[in-house]
Amino acid sequence: MTIFLIGFMASGKSSIGRKLANRLQYQFVDLDDFIEEKIGLPISEIFAEKGEEAFRKIEQQSLQQVGQYQNTVISTGGGTPCFYDNIAYMNEHGQSFFLKNKPEILCSRLLEQKDHRPLVSKFEEKSDLLAFIKDKYNSRLPFYEQAQVILDCYGKDKRNIVKEISEGIKKIS
Ligand code: S3P
Repeated sequence: MTIFLIGFMASGKSSIGRKLANRLQYQFVDLDDFIEEKIGLPISEIFAEKGEEAFRKIEQQSLQQVGQYQNTVISTGGGTPCFYDNIAYMNEHGQSFFLKNKPEILCSRLLEQKDHRPLVSKFEEKSDLLAFIKDKYNSRLPFYEQAQVILDCYGKDKRNIVKEISEGIKKIS
């Protein structure tokens, strides 16, 4: 069984994925970390040196590499399901969960953690960042909503989200 966590930047995919893997006694893979190790560069430098299109190709190949692993929780990047046939790939090779949250919440988190994220690092003003997030979020929603399970994470703590995902796995397996 392979579990794919999808959702916008700062929706908690990595921290929730780590806890979930621990609970299920599964291996955990963060797709961005996998890419950084494979290419030998931080994501921000891959964007800067090779461009976004090259990053998306590397991301797709990496997804298909880690997608072969069994008993694994994979936290994907915020854009992963929105390029090529990646969402279809995930739905065919495992179970996908969309960690849904409000753009306002994602914005406050991203203000604190934007420096290593090339798509948002340039925003200084909260209002500019929020406008960008709302726009990107709305254009990505049709992809995120193709997940097999949509989990509303607004106002929930991570422990409960992990519990809900574990229960969701039982229901659809
Ligand atoms: C991206 C999200 C990032 C990373 C890259 C692009 C995106 O992952 O893959 O910076 O397009 O939303 P996180 O969602 O883990 O920040």
